[in-house]
Amino acid sequence: MRTQVAIIGGGPSGLLLSQLLHTRGIDSVVLEKHTRDYVLSRIRAGVLEHGFAALMREAGVGERMDREGEIHEGFYIAHDGIKERVDLQGLTGNTVIVYGQTELTRDLYDARERTAGAVIHEAQDVQPHDIASARPYVTYTKDGKAERIDCDYVIGADGFHGVSRKSIPKDKLREFERVYPFGWLGVLSRTKPVSPELVYAKHDRGFALCSLRSQTLSRYYIQVPLSDSVDDWSDEAFFAELKRRLPQDVAEAMITGPSIEKSIAPLRSFVAEPMRYGNLFLAGDAAHIVPPTGARGLNSAASDIHYLYHALVDHYKSGDDRGLEAYSQKALARVWKGQRFSWWMTMLLHRFPEQSEFERKLQDTELAYLFSSPRALGSLAENYVGLPF
Ligand code: APR
Ligand code: PHB
Repeated sequence: MRTQVAIIGGGPSGLLLSQLLHTRGIDSVVLEKHTRDYVLSRIRAGVLEHGFAALMREAGVGERMDREGEIHEGFYIAHDGIKERVDLQGLTGNTVIVYGQTELTRDLYDARERTAGAVIHEAQDVQPHDIASARPYVTYTKDGKAERIDCDYVIGADGFHGVSRKSIPKDKLREFERVYPFGWLGVLSRTKPVSPELVYAKHDRGFALCSLRSQTLSRYYIQVPLSDSVDDWSDEAFFAELKRRLPQDVAEAMITGPSIEKSIAPLRSFVAEPMRYGNLFLAGDAAHIVPPTGARGLNSAASDIHYLYHALVDHYKSGDDRGLEAYSQKALARVWKGQRFSWWMTMLLHRFPEQSEFERKLQDTELAYLFSSPRALGSLAENYVGLPF
């Protein structure tokens, strides 16, 4: 088989790029290791910056997102028994959309699967070859049969554990990483969210977050030690600890219900440089990971997809390769800004095990400064809604 662009990974990054290219008549094939149901069973964050939403619309898949997604004009930071609002709309003129990543991925699959053969599920042993040459190809196994796709470009959109990044020679890649000494225990429950807007809470017992997927589906998190496991936390224990970390009025208003999903996610910052090797281009989680605190995960992927999409269109429509040449540098500049912001939000709001009294004072002061300075708050807000591509 031959295609113009072979995309490894059918997560939001790979599917969105494939759909965007399709709108411009550029052929691609998405190779996904798992089934559609498996991919859609993964619970991920659900805050979209306006730039990501704009790409969804450009790809012709924004209709349900605009109908069912909630526009959020602000969020709260709770600390010391009070909550203070970050007015995103007032500070930036922009908003974010709360729309679950599962729903967004479903919309992308529905669109992509209208083109027969555009997504190949359960592609095993996917392997890129000859990526440093002008004739790269990808091999895989499907239903026990060995297959090969010849292409012009390979896109590595196969997430943090994928094969693409690993196929770049070690001496050509630099990796930058920070692992945080705690995780987030998350619970999804079919209850009315305690607050119509997100509440990020800093507390001596650790960070907590009240988020939501809709006004009938709540998503709550608490910071836990990495040594904890999901079995250590009954629903009762979870909600009791969550309430302890929230201002009294918020805790008292909380409606609790049985969890329909419960999991622990570690927190990590990671960037691989460069994001291109020969004719292999990395995008999304394959090249970078952020801790979830600033809700940047999907949004960091958005700028990669934006740059790649335009670079590929310029190549195929006008023979202009400048976008492809500049991809890694441009994408990384935006990626690092997302990294800085996620790291900063994480440092601001979490309790660190080895934190000295001095560091805790600075953390409190950072928060006090934030809410005393419209400029400092404006900086938080402009990062949260998404910096320009
Ligand atoms: N072969 C084929 N597919 C693979 C392989 C492989 N060897 N390894 C991984 N995959 C698939 C995974 O099954 C997954 O569906 O690649 C996809 C990668 O998707 P994500 O991990 O969601 O990464 P990405 O699309 O870049 O999404 C970025 O979405 O999930 C969040 O935390 C993520 O918020 C970030 C954003
Ligand atoms: C979520 O709803 O899962 C979520 C929201 C905001 C974050 C992280 C996760 O910063």
